[in-house]
Amino acid sequence: MKRIQIINGPNLNLLGKREPSVYGNQTFEVYFQELKALFPEVQFDYFQSNTEGILIDKLQETGFTYDGIILNGGAYTHTSIAIADAIRSLTVPVVEVHISNVFKRESYRHHSFLSEVCKGCIVGFGFDSYRLAAEAIIRF
Ligand code: DQA
Repeated sequence: MKRIQIINGPNLNLLGKREPSVYGNQTFEVYFQELKALFPEVQFDYFQSNTEGILIDKLQETGFTYDGIILNGGAYTHTSIAIADAIRSLTVPVVEVHISNVFKRESYRHHSFLSEVCKGCIVGFGFDSYRLAAEAIIRF
């Protein structure tokens, strides 16, 4: 059975309440149940933290044993060399995802420190970005 770790960064615990015009009305917990139902042959684990070091701890913990990691780094995407260095150290492929199309938004969201160390990036498909990332990991 393939194992995929989903890691969500800061403020993504507020999905459903946070800026619904950008991120929609659904909580991630509800979406996570739908995602698991789409891929019964995959074991998904979900983790969220608002803290940079805790996200790095989870990347290190899962980044040598899982089949893939789906990472939405939230705003740390645009600031964190430390998360990029963690990803660089792992053997498991990491797919960067964003719910919104960051390239249609403020210019400070156009640069990602994570993209160059990730296997690939999926941006702008709403929650469906996570399904597309899972499809990619399953085909690796
Ligand atoms: C986000 C985009 C980031 O710019 C933002 O800071 C987030 C969410 C997204 O999924 O669209 O927190 O990663």
